[in-house]
Amino acid sequence: MLNKELHEGINDQINKEMASAYLYLSMAAYLEGNNLSGSAHWMRKQAEEEMEHAMKMFDYMFDRGNQVTLLAIDAPPAEFSSPLDVFEQVLAHERKVTGLIHSLYALSIEHKDYAAQTFLQWFVNEQVEEERNADGIVQKLRMVGDKGHALLMIDRELGAR
Ligand code: FEO
Repeated sequence: MLNKELHEGINDQINKEMASAYLYLSMAAYLEGNNLSGSAHWMRKQAEEEMEHAMKMFDYMFDRGNQVTLLAIDAPPAEFSSPLDVFEQVLAHERKVTGLIHSLYALSIEHKDYAAQTFLQWFVNEQVEEERNADGIVQKLRMVGDKGHALLMIDRELGAR
């Protein structure tokens, strides 16, 4: 069984992962509404990944003999000022999530929970990839600025995810 702190921490993180899915789905809606269907597709996939992260944690809680208590999810923002604004917010959000995962990992070390460390290691590595992907898109969008043609090329690229 997970100790109380880790139990509550992972239970909270299930909520955070689902809130991330909700945020990314809202971003997908904004992008779709602005005729950037490739970017919207990328963001939808991202939302699906967040649900997979949540479900990995959900299952793990039961693997360890713990119960899950689902918490409320706040409404995400619906308006963004540009595609660059969207992806900058994704990057900032992922950095915040990395901090949360690291705190959980630190807890598992503190409590000498070796099994939880192995489980959380996957998320530590995943966050490296999440930040790198978001950062790569932010860099490209900054490069093209508001040049419509280049933006459409990036949109097509993101649609191939
Ligand atoms: Fe579940 Fe994007 O980290």
